[in-house]
Amino acid sequence: MLGAIATAFYVPYARQAPEGPRGSTAVGLGFGVAAAALMAFEWLLNARKRVPTWNLGKAETWLKGHIWLGLLAVPLALFHSGFHLRGTLAAALMIVFVVVILSGVFGLVLQQFLPRLMSLAAPGETIYEQIPHVIETLRLDAYEAVAAVCGALAEAEGERAESEAIQSDPRRARQVLGRRPAAAPAEGSAPLRRFYLETVRPFLMGDGRHGPLADARQAERLAQGLLRLLPPVLHDAAGDLIAIAAERRDYAVQARLHRWLHGWILLHVPLAAALLVLLVAHAVLALRYTY
Ligand code: HEM
Ligand code: HEM
Repeated sequence: MLGAIATAFYVPYARQAPEGPRGSTAVGLGFGVAAAALMAFEWLLNARKRVPTWNLGKAETWLKGHIWLGLLAVPLALFHSGFHLRGTLAAALMIVFVVVILSGVFGLVLQQFLPRLMSLAAPGETIYEQIPHVIETLRLDAYEAVAAVCGALAEAEGERAESEAIQSDPRRARQVLGRRPAAAPAEGSAPLRRFYLETVRPFLMGDGRHGPLADARQAERLAQGLLRLLPPVLHDAAGDLIAIAAERRDYAVQARLHRWLHGWILLHVPLAAALLVLLVAHAVLALRYTY
């Protein structure tokens, strides 16, 4: 509504102004000051968080105000400039402003869609901060699943030592599956051992985005190939490895979504700060040189 009222002011003014609509006319200046006031208001979202004793309404209401009044600043700034970009500083101000608005819209869209995607990617509702710990546990689970049929694996020294340490500590024993290593390798288990050491273990030690197991379809093909090489009694152990790799993949997706969800603000906020600096410089210089 405020945007419509501003437009109703702008159209006759733009038609009648002798030199066209400019930032220096009384009406033009009015639009500029109003846009600047809104930009200053946009920072209250940050101030509200920093001063916890300000008990001024719900965060949701503030965000709504932030979004709508931020968008209202767009027509006001354009009406102020009369849709022109004369002068380097004024042009820089306008460009930074547009990027701040676009980044805000982008972030808002991410905030709407990513949380849902994230719960699809990692159904366990794992808290982001716990993901590194969960991944560590997956690494040990994979080791134990293989060692339970192939015997302790000297090549996976780290996992072996960690698994033994946890299993011998009653307070931590529930962290892992708790399967004991077989005394001797089961018959026909060599392909499982090789698959673990060459494919699964490197994948679990990495960031979950590289190697054949990073891709669900390729992982499925590898799983089918592995099962064909194994006697049926070992299919469960192979299935465990495949399921662990799938879970690791889900966490990699979730971590990536989480970075997007919080990363955009690193563009939005510093540019919003630059916007304030440019705005003050523009207002001071434009007023000084125009009048
Ligand atoms: C001149 C325009 C704007 C300025 C100066 C500005 C500035 C800021 C600042 C300083 C923050 C950080 C608040 C904090 O500390 O958490 C913020 C957050 C945010 N802004 Fe803007 N903003 C502007 C326009 C917009 C627009 C147009 C949108 C959306 C359409 C938007 C969406 C957001 C969102 C979603 C957040 C994150 C809020 C949260 O999740 O805590 N902003 N903005
Ligand atoms: C306190 C607030 C503001 C004041 C006092 C102010 C002042 C002025 C003045 C006096 C001019 C005329 C300069 C000339 O004709 O050579 C001008 C032009 C301009 N202003 Fe502002 N301004 C303000 C806010 C803004 C804001 C918020 C924006 C946009 C984000 C903006 C963007 C521009 C642009 C792009 C022009 C150049 C328009 C053209 O090419 O004629 N100004 N401003």
